[in-house]
Amino acid sequence: MLDVMSEKTIALVTGANKGIGYEIAAGLAALGWSVGVGARDEQRRTDAVAKLRAAGADAFGVPLDVTDDESVTAAARLIDERAGRLDVLVNNAGVAGGWPEQPSTIDLETVRRLVETNVIGVIRVTNAMLPLLRRSAHPRIVNQSSHVGSLSLQTTPGADLGGISGAYAPTKTFLNAVTIQYAKELSGTNILINNACPGYVATDLNGFAGTQTPEQGAAIAVRLAALPDNGPTGQMFDDGGVVPW
Ligand SMILES: NC(=O)c1ccc[n+]([C@@H]2O[C@H](COP(=O)([O-])OP(=O)(O)OC[C@H]3O[C@@H](n4cnc5c(N)ncnc54)[C@H](OP(=O)(O)O)[C@@H]3O)[C@@H](O)[C@H]2O)c1
Repeated sequence: MLDVMSEKTIALVTGANKGIGYEIAAGLAALGWSVGVGARDEQRRTDAVAKLRAAGADAFGVPLDVTDDESVTAAARLIDERAGRLDVLVNNAGVAGGWPEQPSTIDLETVRRLVETNVIGVIRVTNAMLPLLRRSAHPRIVNQSSHVGSLSLQTTPGADLGGISGAYAPTKTFLNAVTIQYAKELSGTNILINNACPGYVATDLNGFAGTQTPEQGAAIAVRLAALPDNGPTGQMFDDGGVVPW
């Protein structure tokens, strides 16, 4: 059903079937928004949508593998047919290798897999959704980064960033650089694009070793998704404020 005139904010969260992404979807739905649950596994997507709806959310499933051109194109088509536009894109889907990841011994296939999802996947989804975002009155893009991607923090003596990370951390650094370039291209438009650092969150990604809940980890992305029109762009934030690149 085409819903172009709807006042309701339309959001898409990638990797929203579990972990932080699921809680971002729940947080955006709690704002009264209509939230697309982007997820590649049909059963986990269906379960997540059902759980969100049971809690009162306006949630709908969006089949989405961020590494697959056809899947991403189909996801954009689904949102176009459903809503005619997209107001908020949260690029949350991400994968990790294993810890520790020594650069000298890392498996190159791991590096490729992480870059493909954590960086190229974000570019692929963003570019597919940009035509829909450009139809929004208040478009926002939030990219899920990490403190470990900050070169400033990585080069701060004594900073506790969980050890050497030869692939995962560099993919988030790459993502940070990509966000800066999008912000430069999109300056002068109404699209605000920022990166979120959720903190160390207990999810599948780290074998549930994180110290924060997924709900706590989702909070900063939800805030960035709901920025006012005069909000910042081209920056990175955690719950405490700006995180240096
Ligand atoms: N946990 C932390 O401490 C932490 C800290 C900083 C940043 N982050 C970032 O936060 C984001 C979410 O991570 P999480 O901790 O919530 O981990 P998670 O529970 O493992 O969730 C990752 C999500 O990404 C999805 N995903 C992976 N590859 C995908 C693909 N090709 N297409 C579509 N979806 C895909 C997963 O879907 P499937 O179920 O289909 O695999 C899952 O929904 C990631 O970008 C991560 O790097 C996490």
